[in-house]
Amino acid sequence: MTVPALELRNVSKDYLIKAGGGLIPSYRRHAAVAGVSLTIARNSIVGLVGESGSGKTTTGMMALRLVKPTSGRILVNGVDISQLDHKGLKPVRRQMQVVFQDSYSALDPMMTLAQIVAEPLDIHGVGSPREQTDEALSWLERVGLDRSYGGRYPHELSGGQRQRVAIARALILKPTVLIADEPTSALDVSVKAQIINLLQDLQEEMDLSILFISHDLSVVRSLTDRVVVMYRGQVVEEAETEAIFSDARHPYTRALLDAIPAANPRDRRVRRFLSVEEIEAATPRLARSELPEAAEPSQTPQLVSIGPGHRVAAIVTP
Ligand SMILES: Nc1ncnc2c1ncn2[C@@H]1O[C@H](COP(=O)(O)OP(=O)(O)OP(=O)(O)O)[C@@H](O)[C@H]1O
Ligand SMILES: [Mg+2]
Repeated sequence: MTVPALELRNVSKDYLIKAGGGLIPSYRRHAAVAGVSLTIARNSIVGLVGESGSGKTTTGMMALRLVKPTSGRILVNGVDISQLDHKGLKPVRRQMQVVFQDSYSALDPMMTLAQIVAEPLDIHGVGSPREQTDEALSWLERVGLDRSYGGRYPHELSGGQRQRVAIARALILKPTVLIADEPTSALDVSVKAQIINLLQDLQEEMDLSILFISHDLSVVRSLTDRVVVMYRGQVVEEAETEAIFSDARHPYTRALLDAIPAANPRDRRVRRFLSVEEIEAATPRLARSELPEAAEPSQTPQLVSIGPGHRVAAIVTP
């Protein structure tokens, strides 16, 4: 078996939330992510889905080490990066890049597009200034913008064009892993399709591994190889994409698939369709003897394997 491009092992992130007002504020711990494990094989796309606040962005930020995990391990191409300091992370940053929903805020308004796209080469000391500019211009072409855009500024671009620039900047260092956090959710439908096609083409050309975070299940279905479903900071189900869409086993996954998309596409929140109690009550209960792999009986849900590459959070009964 080849080493995965990215592996998260039991990662968690706790935040301290102000709980009481008054003169002496009190805090409580909030587990934004609680023990998530996920693997992205080389040259594959994994979708990460779940309602707003389920911990998707926090998970992606921990994978990039832009947020430090409270616990757990992160492996990039087999190398554990969870404990690396700023200096140790620098070479890792070449391997992993990110594209956000709102790339505009990430693009320096005072820099030309050629400078913006070339900057990562400069930061990592790759090539002469001349070579960096040439490479940036050819990347502008590669993402579907004319080379003449090199002298323009971010404010001159449409949303889709800005996202193309963000993609060029993210990929110019030829990373192995790309975290795409809702890269198309601010775009109109036709532009969205173009950006998805671009990502798909570049993924194939570059043997990229992508963590694709999205609320758009139709895009997830067409783009990804596997899907991981998060609910309240935990993974409740994961499987090959077709299995998620045709054979979902967890009540939360089913509810997510059944949810009617919000009328306004900019409303990113999925409706809260089932209560916590309803989901708990409907959590699968599986007898230990039915499971293909050994699991210990427990009162609380645990992720168990129920078929090839298909895991679901279930209560295992003796
Ligand atoms: N810096 C922070 N401080 C405190 N709480 C945070 C912080 N960042 C995230 N959280 C909390 O962690 C939880 C998970 O947030 P996260 O942004 O990862 O969710 P998400 O699945 O990406 O949601 P969305 O779909 O809306 O983007 C939420 O309850 C959020 O309020
Ligand atoms: Mg998010």
